Amino acid sequence: MTTLGSKSTAEQALQGQSLAGKTAIVTGATSGIGTETARVLALAGANVVFAVRSVKAGEELAAQLKASLPATAGTFTVEALDLGDLNSVRAFVKKWLDSGRAIHLLVNNAGIMATPQGTTPQGFELQVGTNHIGHFVLTTGLLPALEKAGEARIVTVSSDLHKRGNGQRLVSALQKLPTDYSPFGAYGDSKLANVLFVKALAKRLPKGVEAFSLHPGVIKTNLTRSMGLSGTIFRVIGGLFMKSIPQGAATSVFAATAPELKGKSGAYLADCHVVDASKEGVDAELAEKVWKLTETAAQA
Ligand SMILES: NC(=O)c1ccc[n+]([C@@H]2O[C@H](COP(=O)([O-])OP(=O)(O)OC[C@H]3O[C@@H](n4cnc5c(N)ncnc54)[C@H](OP(=O)(O)O)[C@@H]3O)[C@@H](O)[C@H]2O)c1
Repeated sequence: MTTLGSKSTAEQALQGQSLAGKTAIVTGATSGIGTETARVLALAGANVVFAVRSVKAGEELAAQLKASLPATAGTFTVEALDLGDLNSVRAFVKKWLDSGRAIHLLVNNAGIMATPQGTTPQGFELQVGTNHIGHFVLTTGLLPALEKAGEARIVTVSSDLHKRGNGQRLVSALQKLPTDYSPFGAYGDSKLANVLFVKALAKRLPKGVEAFSLHPGVIKTNLTRSMGLSGTIFRVIGGLFMKSIPQGAATSVFAATAPELKGKSGAYLADCHVVDASKEGVDAELAEKVWKLTETAAQA
């Protein structure tokens, strides 16, 4: 067996496994590593649902991907989901549960980074609201469908920048209390929330369902779109040293499928390995606090 590492691609991370007959949801599949994650899961036979805010863009991309894959690949369907708006998330969950379908893989991939200061329709700081609260409501709402699959995985794409998050500021943001806003500070808080969410979630999951968070690496995608000129410079210069998109999607595919992760639910991964999260990222007390505050926030 080849050793997986920082240069492995998503296809290599699959380790030859078949996902035929399995259903996978990928949020934010219209761009970047989400598109590649969706493509590779479908290549392995999974029926992949794009959970995206632009259905038109999702349908165009799904048709292109389908045309590029062999006949043995799974199907693509596209469903509307705006993670920044809890009404949209609740509508997605209701529609899914009403359909009675099981979910084998849920990849919480969508994200925004370093946006100008803003709030969600429910009044939460935009990055924490979109990257964390939206995925919290989605995942906890879909748990009955994940349990129905018998064996299921939840993968939440965090970032090494969770280390720039601050637990106290996150706690304030979840209560809509004023914080000192900085674009990367709020991004770090949202990514710290992703790591803490998975820690607390792992303790609550029904038998057979496992959850992982991860850092995908640094990859040239559209994530820097809110950064203006500095984003362009970052992409051009940094692009020389970054992972490719197939490499950036590898840890997501690994987290969703690797048999060797069985029994390690709650872990944080990078480069297709379990690694240490930050000190606050492994703080069980903070994880419980953030869980309870997010449960309350989710009622908004
Ligand atoms: N690229 C990196 O170096 C890096 C490093 C660490 C972590 N990450 C994480 O990796 C994940 C994927 O990022 P990427 O680099 O592939 O970025 P990307 O190319 O910008 O893709 C982000 C995806 O998220 C979607 N999205 C944004 N806001 C949404 C919302 N409110 N509702 C639903 N979908 C929404 C976007 O949809 P639209 O097309 O509609 O905008 C897009 O499909 C993110 O969670 C990011 O934080 C990336």
